[in-house]
Amino acid sequence: MSKVTQIGHPLILHKLSFIRDKHTGSKDFRDLVEEVAMLMAYEVTRDFPLEDVEIETPICKTTCKMLAGKKMAIVPILRAGLGMVDGMLRLIPAAKVGHIGMYRDEVTLKPVEYFCKLPADIGEREVIVTDPMLATGGSAIDAISLLKQRGAKSIRLMCLIAAPEGIKAVTDAHPDVDVYIASIDEKLNEQGYIVPGLGDAGDRLFGTK
Ligand code: PRP
Ligand code: URA
Repeated sequence: MSKVTQIGHPLILHKLSFIRDKHTGSKDFRDLVEEVAMLMAYEVTRDFPLEDVEIETPICKTTCKMLAGKKMAIVPILRAGLGMVDGMLRLIPAAKVGHIGMYRDEVTLKPVEYFCKLPADIGEREVIVTDPMLATGGSAIDAISLLKQRGAKSIRLMCLIAAPEGIKAVTDAHPDVDVYIASIDEKLNEQGYIVPGLGDAGDRLFGTK
């Protein structure tokens, strides 16, 4: 059974309000998405295991904690997921980055895959899939299926805004994947956009509309 975590930290919600605002231009939008991704990474990694390490401070030898075990991979769903990568890499600089290209057909709303390049050892990595928007859930479901086909065993999904419909679809399809969301919004509209949402995340990030 998936765990769904809403990360309603005041700093995240404050920044999300600027991200949603239609008057926020691409540069500020990009900066804010990066900052929110960095803040969310703190929560998404909260249960990562630690191990004892011996180090020497200028004063004495001591035992401290460091991350143990699995290596990480960040896998953005192109295009909009790219906006979350640098923020995460600021906290987890050793992570490898894979890319899955997917766009939603505007009429059917079904995802179309056009690119996939993953770290060769993806099966040994803790994978965090990033995408600002979880709308119908189709893109995330297909991206996670692709990751599993390529050998990924441990996957988390991290989105800024989700519709309840998308959360249900992705957790039904992939009950082994935990989902982290900054805000769960009201619903989808007839065009498949999240309400109130933020509009088209890819277009707003890259200024393509
Ligand atoms: C957006 C978004 C998700 C997808 C969500 O991408 O970034 O990938 O839609 O919708 P879904 O949950 O209904 O599948 P889009 O297809 O607009 O591509 P883009 O990032 O290249 O703009
Ligand atoms: N994709 C977006 O970019 N925004 C939405 O609201 C839904 C899908």
